[in-house]
Amino acid sequence: MDITLTGQVAIVTGVGQGIGREIVKTLAAEGVTTVALDINEGDLASLDKELSEIGGEHVQYVCDVRDGARIREIVADVDARFGRIDILVNNAGVGGDGLVSELSEDVWDLCFDINVKGTYLTCQAVLPIMKRQRRGRIINAASFAAIVPIVGSAAYAGSKSAVNQFTRALAGEVGPWNITANAYAPGMVPTTLNHFTERDQAEQDRLLDTLTLRSWGEKADIANLVCFLASDQARYITGTLIDISGGKLATQVPRLAYEHAGAL
Ligand SMILES: NC(=O)c1ccc[n+]([C@@H]2O[C@H](COP(=O)([O-])OP(=O)(O)OC[C@H]3O[C@@H](n4cnc5c(N)ncnc54)[C@H](O)[C@@H]3O)[C@@H](O)[C@H]2O)c1
Repeated sequence: MDITLTGQVAIVTGVGQGIGREIVKTLAAEGVTTVALDINEGDLASLDKELSEIGGEHVQYVCDVRDGARIREIVADVDARFGRIDILVNNAGVGGDGLVSELSEDVWDLCFDINVKGTYLTCQAVLPIMKRQRRGRIINAASFAAIVPIVGSAAYAGSKSAVNQFTRALAGEVGPWNITANAYAPGMVPTTLNHFTERDQAEQDRLLDTLTLRSWGEKADIANLVCFLASDQARYITGTLIDISGGKLATQVPRLAYEHAGAL
């Protein structure tokens, strides 16, 4: 299958760490001109060095995705510089734990402001350009928590459910311009967001027991999906939530298969 992205322009948010950093580097390796946004300036400087080694055009902007004026300014700058925006990946996101009985308004607001409002603001900003082109790919990070939440994740799971439903509503609006909008639900990819691999072994095993493939996800798994969704090969996919979680809870007790197989 030919996934040709060469010459396209992609905006990716939350690129300083974790999955977003991998997404932007994978797109760059595919010949995409990358526009990388993060709130953390220091991480952007080290990313710049890595992108220079990969080659191709790339530009980074310090940006808090909650800041609509800043996003519009960046999008205008990118349009003036490159004349197009083909791909938008809304990866920036934060967690926020707490039982509802104890959950602070600050945690609630942080999750919804960054995860949901940030996604809405960037989508709104790129739409005039994608409509002008009569083509665009919008790809939003939801979470497996949008499908089945874990106890203590009301703010995060609620926000990621909102990202999913926002994405579907958006897909419904932009079809006439040949713009697709999809969300993806990563399962368990160890990053600074979750510190999965730093937990004690019993806790790691408890989490791995929920996965049909019983191994941690890799950042590259997500980056490869994003490349596919950005490509012409995915032209007929829109308004969907793609579960990329190693079959998290695909069956009620995934661990049973490993016990039957004598693999534990
Ligand atoms: N890692 C997983 O297993 C997993 C599972 C489900 C969903 N996700 C989602 O995938 C996305 C990436 O997760 P990750 O694990 O790589 O997280 P991470 O914490 O490693 O990286 C998040 C990045 O977003 C940036 N960021 C945070 N707030 C920002 C803001 N206001 N404006 C701009 N940038 C901001 C951070 O600086 C950081 O570079 C998130 O949306 C997350 O909810 C991840």
